[in-house]
Amino acid sequence: MSDLSQEAVDGLVAQALEAFAAANTTTELKAARLAHLGDKAPVVLANKSLGELPKEDRREAGQRIGQARAAINAAFAAREAEISAAELAQALVAERVDVTLPVEVAPAGAPHPITALMDLVSDAFVAMGWEIAEGPEAEGEWLNFDALNIGPDHPARATSDTLFIDPIDNHLLLRTHTSPVQIRSLLSRPLPVYIICPGKTYRADEFDATHVPVFHQFEGLAVDKGITLANLRGSLDRFAQAMFGDEIRTRMRPHYFPFTEPSAEVDLQCFVCHGESVGNPDKPCRTCKSEGWIEWGGCGVVNPRVLAACGIDTDVYSGFAFGMGVERTLMFRNNAADMRDMVEGDVRFSRSLKGAAR
Ligand code: DAH
Repeated sequence: MSDLSQEAVDGLVAQALEAFAAANTTTELKAARLAHLGDKAPVVLANKSLGELPKEDRREAGQRIGQARAAINAAFAAREAEISAAELAQALVAERVDVTLPVEVAPAGAPHPITALMDLVSDAFVAMGWEIAEGPEAEGEWLNFDALNIGPDHPARATSDTLFIDPIDNHLLLRTHTSPVQIRSLLSRPLPVYIICPGKTYRADEFDATHVPVFHQFEGLAVDKGITLANLRGSLDRFAQAMFGDEIRTRMRPHYFPFTEPSAEVDLQCFVCHGESVGNPDKPCRTCKSEGWIEWGGCGVVNPRVLAACGIDTDVYSGFAFGMGVERTLMFRNNAADMRDMVEGDVRFSRSLKGAAR
């Protein structure tokens, strides 16, 4: 039988209030609640023992215990509110997310500048109504040389330059230029033909700042009725402007290629000194060696022998062709001084030119 005197009941309330006040976390408060309001808590047991009291004492004792439980419940609720508010405030500080912090995004890649530039070249010609042509990198010797009027004794055929594919009797090689695509296009397409062919080419070169054994070229070919050197000049100028801006100047210098007659080399006005170093010893230019011009590629009027090798009537049709190095173009266009950067595949190089090759 519990002691239900006012003093004893006040004592229970005081103990409960003290325990709630001492609890500082939800877990501690839960334990205090079990102790002071749970099934085995003294007030709860006291309440249960009311029935054992003589009838005349029950009402008063019941009131006393009811008030005590109400006081304990109220104290619990008040403390619970305090603790949860404090815990929430703490969590808000501890779990604060700074949405303004920079995020670590997975680093983005970039198209390789060679690819980007080849796309750009293709776009420039497609915009003029030309078509893209392709050919295999392992090419027939006849297509790479003979059909282009490069006879068996031509130095370009020497094995020191050309990578032949074993066994040599198969007459297969890694194409040394994109020019065999001229032949392939003339043999497979209806006339007139206007094609641009960007692609990989191979030569047994040393690997240094200005040479790589695997490089890229783009080849252009136009064969139609009444094509002259003037069409070549105009097309190249327009193309150079698309590549380097409207200010660019080009010049053609007589040269020799077996597959064009007449042939020329195309030069670009030096992109560093813009010709100002010429005859000006105070301002020498290393890029063009103070010549004011730098070589860009080769071109010419298609040699009738090439057309004839493709079964084309040279009395009716004529054409022009040109071929340039993609790496060289990239060097001029984007100041990429070392060709080795172009093959090493470091994404930082690609990223640094991202957007430039546009
Ligand atoms: N095929 C030549 C080379 O690799 C470049 C070239 C020169 C291509 C003149 C042409 C051209 O189409 O007409 O050096």
